[in-house]
Amino acid sequence: MDFRLSDEQRLIRDTARDFATREVLPRAAAIDKEHRFPQELVAQMSSLGFMGIAVPEEYGGAGMDHVSYVLAMEEISRACASTGVIMSVQNSLVGDPLCKFGTEEQKRQWLPRLAKGEIIGCFALSEPDAGSDAAAQKTVARLHGDEWVIEGVKNFITNGPESQVCILFTMNDPSKGHRGITAFVLPMDAKGVRCGPPDDKLGIRGSHSCQIFLEEVRLSKTCLLGEVGQGFKVAMSTLDGGRIGIAAQALGIARAALEDAVRYSGDRKTFGKPLWQHQAIQFKLADMATELDAARLLTWRAAQLKDLGQRHSTESAMAKVFAAEVANRAAKEAVQILGGYGYVTEYPVERHFRDAKITEIYEGTSEVQRIVIASSLLKS
Ligand code: CAA
Repeated sequence: MDFRLSDEQRLIRDTARDFATREVLPRAAAIDKEHRFPQELVAQMSSLGFMGIAVPEEYGGAGMDHVSYVLAMEEISRACASTGVIMSVQNSLVGDPLCKFGTEEQKRQWLPRLAKGEIIGCFALSEPDAGSDAAAQKTVARLHGDEWVIEGVKNFITNGPESQVCILFTMNDPSKGHRGITAFVLPMDAKGVRCGPPDDKLGIRGSHSCQIFLEEVRLSKTCLLGEVGQGFKVAMSTLDGGRIGIAAQALGIARAALEDAVRYSGDRKTFGKPLWQHQAIQFKLADMATELDAARLLTWRAAQLKDLGQRHSTESAMAKVFAAEVANRAAKEAVQILGGYGYVTEYPVERHFRDAKITEIYEGTSEVQRIVIASSLLKS
């Protein structure tokens, strides 16, 4: 097995690391404190090709592979997890389903502007009463003549307040269960679309999410994404890719926690010697580093399978659940190593602690990932 990166992949990682260190990291604390969407960083990431990293060049993207995507995601998220998820939603949850299920017209209409960062996209599956049970969609789509008429409410929609386009999931035939779900490409300026106020969140505060209200929204048939009744599969296979992006975001947060803890352990002295010379601290750092590497290997494997065009639902779920839990453990230990300094905003580790939590929740909770993994065991 070859774990080496290609020259191109190394170049992407180094470019992302350099950009994240110079431009993203110095802004991260303020982005969090001010709950500010980092528009200027989105513009810079677009110039680097990061907002459409795996979108083919013919549609204005960078045309790179998903291993490159996770390398860049880890670097950006190491500096700022909010900026990381903005990039992840644009790539995994909007660009990817458009590439995979979109018509030629939809690809030409949306992908170049998404890849250039001229517009932002979001993915609206969750509802107030349909989170983990994604098939319990209550947003209704009914065909009236040539038009679909849509009514409903979507919940916790990341990038929602900034978006110009939305990958929307609806129920067009409740009697068919998940086979009654249909996906659309929704222009956010369509009549009847309204965003609620941004959610006031524990972490990733620079990434805005909101409810989206849909009141008698009329869409032409050209807005269908995939076939009528195939929306659940569009959602699930999109999330197979999205979960790799969130695993990479979790790697970034875990690495930030580890690097910040290592630095502090060298600077701080207790009982006459630097913190890192105490075995209690060494053991924590060693476990953090080992788990981080294991999570990275799972994430790279899932990304590589996606690049090979193989089904990767189980591997994506394994990468996400493990990386998310590693990020949470790493952030918790980093707070512990810094002690009182870990608990105050003067140091960044309290932000890593708050940012890490969401990786166990969105794009499928850790419990949902375990359901996906277990069901693959039972099927095999
Ligand atoms: N790819 C393609 N098809 C798939 C699939 C996949 N990965 N997973 C399932 N399917 C298909 C199945 O083959 C089955 O097809 P048939 O109709 O032909 O039988 C169908 O979908 C139903 O499959 P299941 O019976 O396994 O589905 P389920 O209802 O039991 O649901 C679940 C399983 C895993 C719990 C699923 O509901 C799920 O993933 N829930 C979590 C939803 C989620 O992740 N939400 C995140 C919201 S987005 C977000 O968070 C964005 C953000 O803010 C950043």
